[in-house]
Amino acid sequence: MKGVVLAGGLGTRLRPLTKVTNKHLLPVYDKPMIYYPIETLVEAGIRDILIVTGGNNSGDFLTLLGNGKQFGLKHLNYTYQEGQGGIADALALAEYFAAGKKICVILGDNILEKSIRPAVEAFREQEKGARILVKEVPDPERFGVAELEGDRVVRIVEKPKSPKSSFAVTGIYLYDNDVFRIVRSLVPSGRGELEITDVNNAYIEAGTLQMDVLDGWWTDAGTFSSLFRANRLVAAGAGDAGEGRA
Ligand code: G1P
Repeated sequence: MKGVVLAGGLGTRLRPLTKVTNKHLLPVYDKPMIYYPIETLVEAGIRDILIVTGGNNSGDFLTLLGNGKQFGLKHLNYTYQEGQGGIADALALAEYFAAGKKICVILGDNILEKSIRPAVEAFREQEKGARILVKEVPDPERFGVAELEGDRVVRIVEKPKSPKSSFAVTGIYLYDNDVFRIVRSLVPSGRGELEITDVNNAYIEAGTLQMDVLDGWWTDAGTFSSLFRANRLVAAGAGDAGEGRA
């Protein structure tokens, strides 16, 4: 299975932090944000990885990551997303890299406590379709929300005002090669982007989407409060309670 890290976008919710740099280059405790999703993929046994980036600072990813030596890799692949077309638009750029194989996609601002290996292994065995990871959160309206019937997802709604469950769809997605055909069939949403939620709903309609509940803490880092939370969680995991606490 191949891995794809989506690290484009303008990070507008984090301005002015993102005025002169890419969101995924910002620090989360002792490492740049993008280190975490790469480490998550490598830990799950995925070694062939594509970084999709964009914006003014895309060259900095090469300077920072090189060929991935610090992750134990011999090689990293890069591609460039023009404009602000959304997550699914960025994913379309991975078609050539995927070369017919299954892929594990992770959003560049998603940080996890524990391994995704169980889901990756389960997807290796899954004949076709997609697999998502969900996590119960106190603020589901910030995310794609999974409507569940038993342990089956019947629909995903992107940032609903009245969420039907407290299960957020995390930014880790496992797809077969049909994903690229689905992406081509999408139309832009109200915010002018190709939505990953529409991709997942297409798999639900085809009856081929499976889900797992993620173990351990999970956070995104795309807003001030979630970036702060990411820093706190990673610091606490490293045993740093913080100096000078009141
Ligand atoms: C994106 C997805 C959303 C998902 C979230 C996870 O949201 O659209 O469905 O729950 O990532 O981090 P965004 O961060 O682009 O608002």
